[in-house]
Amino acid sequence: MSGGKILITGASGGFGYEFAQQLEKSGVELILHARDEARLQLTLDGLKYPDRHTCIITDLSQRKSVESFIEALAEEGSILGLVNNAGFGVWGSFERCESVAQLDVLRTDLVAPVAIAHALLPNLIRNHGFIINVSSLAGETPLPYMSTYAAAKAGLTYWSEALRAELEGKLNIVTLASGPSPTGFRDVSGAPKGKGSFFRTSAEEVVAASLQTLKRGGGYCVPGFRHRMLWMLQKIMPRQLSLTLMRSYLKR
Ligand SMILES: NC(=O)c1ccc[n+]([C@@H]2O[C@H](COP(=O)([O-])OP(=O)(O)OC[C@H]3O[C@@H](n4cnc5c(N)ncnc54)[C@H](OP(=O)(O)O)[C@@H]3O)[C@@H](O)[C@H]2O)c1
Repeated sequence: MSGGKILITGASGGFGYEFAQQLEKSGVELILHARDEARLQLTLDGLKYPDRHTCIITDLSQRKSVESFIEALAEEGSILGLVNNAGFGVWGSFERCESVAQLDVLRTDLVAPVAIAHALLPNLIRNHGFIINVSSLAGETPLPYMSTYAAAKAGLTYWSEALRAELEGKLNIVTLASGPSPTGFRDVSGAPKGKGSFFRTSAEEVVAASLQTLKRGGGYCVPGFRHRMLWMLQKIMPRQLSLTLMRSYLKR
């Protein structure tokens, strides 16, 4: 992997910070992206060789910003890897949530990753590179009170898995389907504070598992024992029962 550039979107915290920490060890140059410049700088400062890497600030929920972002990436030259990580969810009743926020979830978590991957694809294929799409186990079950987030992640998972099959032998693709992890995600979503899910798994473990999957040539990655347990439950539970349980768990 050494000698190339890797773009990590949403690198100002959580999984993105952890991807930066773990990927830097392979000797690559990182292009770190987020909206919050000060927090992105903290990620950069936490790296061993900050001078080697660059930062780009862009809001991925805005079509024009995504277009400018893609233009800026063209000037970065050869890119070996893309970690489509930036994303957020909105917790609450669809009826009462602002429609702009709900649409921003779809634009940031689904539309932007597809647009960025499409723009970088010729470059990534030429370099025998990779894409890690950070999806979620939320994409495996419809989630009342987080409906657009689950829809965006279901879309991301299906697109990523289909692309993995289309591009087999040309590009290594990981679809990372993580369960809950203690990052900034919950606070950003507006969810009430709680003691956290039994299924929580550290960001460090989640990211390490996805990089192991990448080393094996790509695949669908459900990281860690607890997330795999949750995934199994999702697989065997009838849809109606799961909807009823998730509705009572997620209702404000
Ligand atoms: N934590 C979990 O439980 C969990 C589980 C499954 C999947 N995931 C997925 O993991 C990914 C990373 O989330 P995280 O858990 O690490 O949460 P986080 O700590 O809140 O980090 C989210 C990152 O996405 C960036 N981001 C959010 N909205 C953006 C926008 N409109 N434009 C550009 N960047 C944006 C944030 O940067 P700025 O705020 O600086 O813009 C931040 O760097 C997300 O795709 C999330 O859906 C998380």
